[in-house]
Amino acid sequence: MSQHNLKPKHDLVYLTEDASHDEVIELINEEAFGPGRHTRAAARIREEGAHDRTLSFVCADDGETIGSVRMTAVMAGDVKGHLLGPLAVRPSHKNRGIGRELVRIAIDAAKRKGSEAVILVGDAPYYGPLGFEKVAYNALQFPGPVDPNRVLVVPLRPDVHSRLKGRIGWRP
Ligand SMILES: CC(C)(COP(=O)(O)OP(=O)(O)OC[C@H]1O[C@@H](n2cnc3c(N)ncnc32)[C@H](O)[C@@H]1OP(=O)(O)O)[C@@H](O)C(=O)NCCC(=O)NCCS
Repeated sequence: MSQHNLKPKHDLVYLTEDASHDEVIELINEEAFGPGRHTRAAARIREEGAHDRTLSFVCADDGETIGSVRMTAVMAGDVKGHLLGPLAVRPSHKNRGIGRELVRIAIDAAKRKGSEAVILVGDAPYYGPLGFEKVAYNALQFPGPVDPNRVLVVPLRPDVHSRLKGRIGWRP
């Protein structure tokens, strides 16, 4: 076979989520987070209302969905932002930059849509290099217990940090 005909081992594409992805995303999140995932504080916000599909993305490898990031509109203090998560990549595809790319795409899309901030509960060592900063300790009250050191934000306006005070919840 000539080199010209060799198929690349991986053929990754990033797509906006639609309803046809629901089932596989459920499986990916189940595999990544297990059955306890619905009790987490961020998950409780997501149960208050639907996520925003226009800002949620999947990664597919040769047609098979192997990663997902979802975004949900939230009010955080008086900031009209978006909660990022869940973010999950199938174990078979980890450590290839797919998680980082999904986060980058979601932040860019939120910025274009006029979001004021992208907020999440997660590991600072992973999200820091992607532009996330710590929210002031205990400044945001989640609808459930949360480790204040893990509440992170990408401010998309200069005054966001000072306005992130009070409750965070689902925004229609
Ligand atoms: C976290 C997750 C989404 C990362 O996806 P991924 O596509 O493998 O990530 P990337 O390829 O973009 O980045 C991999 C790098 O991040 C590092 N990393 C992964 N998880 C990390 C974490 N929790 N804290 C710090 N670094 C982390 C890896 O060690 C790797 O480092 P390297 O580039 O120096 O080798 C994926 O591992 C996953 O689905 N995990 C289970 C669910 C989860 O924890 N989601 C995040 C919730 S906050």
